[in-house]
Amino acid sequence: MTSTPKRVAIPKNGVDYRGKLVLAPMVRSGECPSRLLALKYGADLVWGPETVDKSMIGTTRRENAATKTVDFTRLSSNGTKNPALNPDQRESVIYRLHPGKEGRTHIFQIGTSNADTAVQAAKLIAPDVAGIDVNAGCPKPFSTTGGMGAALLKTPDTLCSILKSLVSEVGVPNEIGISVKIRILETAEQTEALVRKLVATGITGLTVHCRTTPMRPRERAIRDQLKMVADICRDAGVACVMNGDVMSREEALGLIAEYGCDGAMIATAAETNPSVFRTKAEGGKAPWEEVVKEYVKTSIEVENRWGNTKFLLGQMIPGKNDAYKAMTQAKSYAQLVKGLKYGDDLLKMAQDVDKVLEIGEHEKPKMTKAQRKAANKAAVSQDQPTNEVAKKATAGVKRTAEMAQLDMPLDVAREAGPGSVQGSASVLAA
Ligand SMILES: Cc1cc2nc3c(=O)[nH]c(=O)nc-3n(C[C@H](O)[C@H](O)[C@H](O)COP(=O)(O)O)c2cc1C
Repeated sequence: MTSTPKRVAIPKNGVDYRGKLVLAPMVRSGECPSRLLALKYGADLVWGPETVDKSMIGTTRRENAATKTVDFTRLSSNGTKNPALNPDQRESVIYRLHPGKEGRTHIFQIGTSNADTAVQAAKLIAPDVAGIDVNAGCPKPFSTTGGMGAALLKTPDTLCSILKSLVSEVGVPNEIGISVKIRILETAEQTEALVRKLVATGITGLTVHCRTTPMRPRERAIRDQLKMVADICRDAGVACVMNGDVMSREEALGLIAEYGCDGAMIATAAETNPSVFRTKAEGGKAPWEEVVKEYVKTSIEVENRWGNTKFLLGQMIPGKNDAYKAMTQAKSYAQLVKGLKYGDDLLKMAQDVDKVLEIGEHEKPKMTKAQRKAANKAAVSQDQPTNEVAKKATAGVKRTAEMAQLDMPLDVAREAGPGSVQGSASVLAA
């Protein structure tokens, strides 16, 4: 009689990572349109960009009828001390997802160093996603100095307590899975000890990025600890997803078979061309021209923040091509669509979105330092019965993305650096 392999039960609203080729979490590069494109080209699951717990706490969940997205937003103060006194107040989108298209394929990745705040933040979004993943691999100082990301690899007890709390207080009640993404440690023994602890926390999945914390992204991934990690996960019934230098679906399948993993995750290859998820039989990797047009269309449909769209196009369009120059010169979706010669249908949509985002010809003058000062003065004035002073100070002034981030706590603004916290461009119907 053959024994069936042990498997941690996958909760009703969760998703099994086994047999899946997935889009990696990528701050700035993994926003809504990037994920939708990856799914269109065959990704099985998509991770959202790491979002710090404190930036989620205090957000309001809004269903955006225009974009058919669910947006987690907060008031941005435009650099003023009291956002309520700013007449040009807009909601900043902290996190946006598209339930109709992402549905049960979306995993929310949280940046955290504390079980309580992790639980508070995860509870807000748990009903909208198929799983919550903890980032324990980011080596960037903005993450590690707060004890988050790769710093958690050095504090395994804290990491385990975060995972256990998320499992019992968020995973169980919402019937979704909790997972973790780690890097390998310097020695196989160290990695083994860590992974044994992690798989005993109740998680359903573990992603291992096959690089150590000090390794640069360009250094080749190290695979010699992978089989050991996969074996420990299998014995515990936890799905093991491998990550690092995976370039295509075919390559992923080969690596999964070779190292005994359950799934594979792609980051940088998908950042430049998300059609890497497509099978050879379906056409394989598509030409950049096709992918870029799809990306622009999708960004317009979900009213993606203009700066983020432009950033991603910079990754996708070859630098020497004329289209690259046209893209860099564009200051709005309409200018972009004209520059790339995409035709009238898309142009009309682009013009409508420019208006909503207040970019290009719809851009308002930026708030000056003096105006911000005046608005702050109004905010501290105790006997100010109305917001008239602030109104005068900021009339007709539009916030910049940078300003939009000034009102956030330091750790949140820091997180905004790479892009998870979207700026003022995302405007919602009140
Ligand atoms: C632009 C960018 C942003 C990233 N942001 C995150 C993140 O938010 N969370 C995370 O766990 N890893 C993040 N990573 C790391 C990737 O998820 C992945 O582990 C790494 O790039 C290795 O995969 P690759 O070799 O396929 O690129 C990021 C990587 C890139 C290139």
